[in-house]
Amino acid sequence: MSPAERIEVLRREIRSHDHRYFVLDDPVISDYDYDMLVNELRDLESAHPDLITPDSPTQRVGGSPSSSAFPVVRHPVPMLSIGNTYNDEEIRDFDRRIRDLLGPEQEYAYAVELKIDGVAVSLRYEDGALALGATRGDGEQGDDITANLRTIRSIPLRIAEERPLLNNIEVRGEVYLPHDGFRELNALRAEREEPLFANPRNATAGSLKLRDPRIVAERPLRVFLYTLRFEDESGAVVARPELDSHFERLHWLAGQGFPTNREARRFAAIGEVIDFCHAWGERRSSLSYDIDGMVIKVDSIGLHGKLGATMKSPRWAIASKFAAQRATTRLMDIRLQVGRTGVVTPVAELEPVFLAGSTISRATLHNEEEIRRKDLRVGDTVVIEKGGDVIPKVVSVDMSKREDGSTPFVMPTACPVCETTLVRVGDEVAWRCGNAACPAQTQARVTHFTARNAMDIEGFGPAVTEQILAKGLIGDVGDIYRLTREQLGTLERMGEKSAENLLRGIEASRDRPLDRLLFSLGIPHVGERVARQIADRFRSIDGIRAASEEELVAVPEIGPKIAESILSFFRNERNLEIIGKLGEAGLNVEVDVPDAAEGGLDAAEGGADSQALADKIFVITGTLSRYTRDEMSTQITAAGGRVTSSVSKKTDYLVAGENAGSKLQKAQSLGVEILNEEDAESLLSGQ
Ligand code: IVH
Repeated sequence: MSPAERIEVLRREIRSHDHRYFVLDDPVISDYDYDMLVNELRDLESAHPDLITPDSPTQRVGGSPSSSAFPVVRHPVPMLSIGNTYNDEEIRDFDRRIRDLLGPEQEYAYAVELKIDGVAVSLRYEDGALALGATRGDGEQGDDITANLRTIRSIPLRIAEERPLLNNIEVRGEVYLPHDGFRELNALRAEREEPLFANPRNATAGSLKLRDPRIVAERPLRVFLYTLRFEDESGAVVARPELDSHFERLHWLAGQGFPTNREARRFAAIGEVIDFCHAWGERRSSLSYDIDGMVIKVDSIGLHGKLGATMKSPRWAIASKFAAQRATTRLMDIRLQVGRTGVVTPVAELEPVFLAGSTISRATLHNEEEIRRKDLRVGDTVVIEKGGDVIPKVVSVDMSKREDGSTPFVMPTACPVCETTLVRVGDEVAWRCGNAACPAQTQARVTHFTARNAMDIEGFGPAVTEQILAKGLIGDVGDIYRLTREQLGTLERMGEKSAENLLRGIEASRDRPLDRLLFSLGIPHVGERVARQIADRFRSIDGIRAASEEELVAVPEIGPKIAESILSFFRNERNLEIIGKLGEAGLNVEVDVPDAAEGGLDAAEGGADSQALADKIFVITGTLSRYTRDEMSTQITAAGGRVTSSVSKKTDYLVAGENAGSKLQKAQSLGVEILNEEDAESLLSGQ
């Protein structure tokens, strides 16, 4: 078989597996076998670049980010919206209108589909290959987002291999994010302290607007297609009388490999349509994606022409919208929650109410502005809403139920926990408690540190954390490893056995790798992924500390904002103190590789001399005149030494510059050898 033939075979096979996996949800090979096929195709294509075609499965994510706006494209046939109905009577009115327009003799049926709560798109296939993908825009013209839509793996880049297409086609449908994908995406954003998407639809719209298709490719977007139009060369609509039924067109689309929603049904009587809509109104929460209603369409495409359209919407279709999943309850209180970075978030305490599958007693109010805009007052009867999978939100106040004498919410000026005056930084809407020692912040930091995805200390739950902090057994996370059995014994509801378990949990957490430790420190904007990358790159906490902004931003995913956050974290003496304690506790402040292997590498790089200061532990303090601390630190590391942040008995040398303070005193009291800048230089140059 020639490479060209093999390439074709592989592409066909991969397309078929993509279809099974992303459209039918029924894969027949393992991920490994699939990857093998893709690798083979990639290899062949790189050996024969002339054989690469845009419809190859390897070419989904193409090009680099575009800085300019998306090109605008005109829809040959406008993308109309549809009229809404909110009750059965309006659906019956719609049916009566149809009957009046078509006359009593004309028989007709309805196709009824789920109304997917996503973003409408259009896809044009020319000669069987995806040629253009666009947003709806204003209906007349939208954005050319072909590069982004190509990354959605359930969208075929090529169709009808076996069945030759007679025409170019345009298919339209709805791009959406399933609930699990939405959750993952928001979790990742929370980790990076990026603003969260309010709901899957916003997340979808935001994703499709991204300028970098590589990021879009990481978003688990899906699509359902429901409209099909055949075109001739000039773009004019070609009628296909043999495929007159909308319902059958959905099957045709599925047969060509397009993802279509399987819940569509066809009914002859409007009563059945209404029942079907009701049934889905009840069952919508069983779906893994959001729907906001049902769409009722006259099934015969031929009749669509007869019925025509108004300016905005076709007369042959209507949406039956579900009432939002809302409930009314009482706003009992507005509490302020202090996060680990001091951001203060108002939270609504609600009278518990059951809504769409769960009991809701709290809702975030985001910030002061939000409360003012909605004029929320304690004691108000409020409407809360839950869309699909979203955190419940307070939509509005039922003013008719407002009690006399209620007063507008006044944002406290002080932290509810430590009473430090709240501040706003720059143009942030959020208020912050600037006191890093605030017990609420400490508690949030300890909770973060001990959490499952961080140091994973079993038994360190919220109740224990609160008590340990209240009793002053720890001041910060650095003290966790100094807790004793006796101390734990003083806690309420802490028997000998639980104390034992907790100590074991603490003990076990000492082994967590550097990247986890780093994440656990709660450096703003440093989530699990970023933590892994910096641990990989800098190999130790001291290495990270010594890194310059330039070195930091050289790491993928680290931009100036994260870099600044890391630099400022390590500028803070209190943080350095905590890190010092963690290092003394024997935690993995370095990537855990056998010394020999690492030393070997260094030696190979820098020659034998590079081990002159092997294993010597340095601390640098004060202001140096000829070097920055980072430069000094780099030189020491290059000579095989280690630079740590706090002075202990293990410290071999303290390099002290101008204005050295507490570290110098501590070094003197411990008898650590103290070097000035010149001493350090001579030591480093081996004199
Ligand atoms: S048909 C001319 N079918 O709802 C009729 N629309 O307001 C075109 N939508 O813009 C729409 N699911 O974004 C149709 N099964 C479905 C749909 C659906 C969601 C969206 C679509 C459209 C809007 C109608």
